Amino acid sequence: MPFNPELCRNESEVESKLIVQYLLPQLGYTPDTWHQEVAVGSIRLDFLAFAAQVLPFVIDANSPLSVVMEAKHPKQNLNNHFLRLRHYLTSLNVKYGLLTNGKEIRIYEKLADDIRLVFLCSGKEVETKIEEIKSFIGRDTLKDKEPLDKTEPLVVPDSYKGEIKEKHSMKIIAVYHNKGGVGKTTTVVNLAAAIRKKGKRVLVIDLDSQANTTFATGLVKFDDEISDNIKDNYVYHILRSVELDTITEVARKSVFTNPEIDIIPSHINLMKMERELNELRSSHTRLINKLKEVQDKYDIVIIDTPPSLNLFAFIALITSDYLIIPSDLKPFANQGLINVKEYIKYEVNQFRSSLNKPPLTILGVLACKIATFPKFVQHTLPKQIAAISQRYDLPVLDTVIYQREELAKCLEQVQQIGDLEVPDPRSVFEYKPHGDSAKEFELLAIEVLQKTGI
Ligand SMILES: Nc1ncnc2c1ncn2[C@@H]1O[C@H](COP(=O)(O)OP(=O)(O)O)[C@@H](O)[C@H]1O
Ligand SMILES: [Mg+2]
Repeated sequence: MPFNPELCRNESEVESKLIVQYLLPQLGYTPDTWHQEVAVGSIRLDFLAFAAQVLPFVIDANSPLSVVMEAKHPKQNLNNHFLRLRHYLTSLNVKYGLLTNGKEIRIYEKLADDIRLVFLCSGKEVETKIEEIKSFIGRDTLKDKEPLDKTEPLVVPDSYKGEIKEKHSMKIIAVYHNKGGVGKTTTVVNLAAAIRKKGKRVLVIDLDSQANTTFATGLVKFDDEISDNIKDNYVYHILRSVELDTITEVARKSVFTNPEIDIIPSHINLMKMERELNELRSSHTRLINKLKEVQDKYDIVIIDTPPSLNLFAFIALITSDYLIIPSDLKPFANQGLINVKEYIKYEVNQFRSSLNKPPLTILGVLACKIATFPKFVQHTLPKQIAAISQRYDLPVLDTVIYQREELAKCLEQVQQIGDLEVPDPRSVFEYKPHGDSAKEFELLAIEVLQKTGI
């Protein structure tokens, strides 16, 4: 049956079925060359695809050739969106814009400070017209075109600011498995970096007393206890008191990735505080309440958790909207999945229901630290993945994070300060921006943003 985008029922289907699954791949844009929900100043673009740019992406006067794609609800009249598209293309200095509601597909070209319609077809015709569409905005076509005037600065007029409101509310994701060493912390820090690079505002919370995320994000710069500047202001303080120690007061900026990310650190002392906090029932919901105070400040919060069924795992799971379960898919990790499922069903969701919160949404098991031997990847891995949904009835994320040296190495970076060597860990995007791991984490970011609707 031919592909018919006219059957898309809402804006999100126009985005996913027509743009993500059909147009972008047909036009030659690989996942590392396009971005969804991009914020530039006060402008929010549905999609921005680059003919010649990979990570990290920037849009400025020197941006390479690119195309903006805007998806609308099938009932929307595209004429009503012309002015806004014109504003996007002229103020961002982007040459082409595609506008569609599924029923109709239009391509506009930017002139000096106006745009003109250069292509129009109905959704039904998209397959037969794809070559023509490619001739305007195909990745290869754009690469061959002359760049726009590179001296023109990016101007986002003040009058425009605040006109478009943030479409989505802050989403909270826990990264949890009750087995250790499966890649939870690696996932938290690199997923956070990947999502930050897509223009989202990210907060990371370390709820594991091992504090590996705190280390991996470069907040442990001291080498003796006397200079420990974390123990007096970390995640424990958020849980401890009602009014004091807000998220903003405890969060620190981390430059382990660029742009920087806010981190709520953890500390080995958290372990000692478990009993005290356990007895203080009201402390269990403090993170939920304090995060509400910053819901306009962040698009996404990612929480790292301990490999156990303790209070801190519980707090992470009652606070979050979504769960990612990293797993190496080996027998012990698989057996742990049963504990995770039961814990969520009998304890987490029960408690959530008493707070009038919906059950936790499991985004999926994330295959992590997966061996790269071709035979294994071809034959064994697909069986292991299938077994997760068959035996444990859990969804599996499409992205796979393979075992790669750079993911361990980027933690080992050091910085020389005088005679001292200080730990200076980096995200994999800083350490090896064009490596396979960076690509895999970018794919994971795309998948997570799509599945959570951020
Ligand atoms: N995909 C990977 N490739 C290579 N090393 C990895 C990978 N994922 C994790 N590691 C390494 O394995 C160890 C455990 O990973 P970590 O993310 O800390 O797991 P967890 O938080 O589940 O205990 C760390 O030393 C980390 O650097
Ligand atoms: Mg960890």
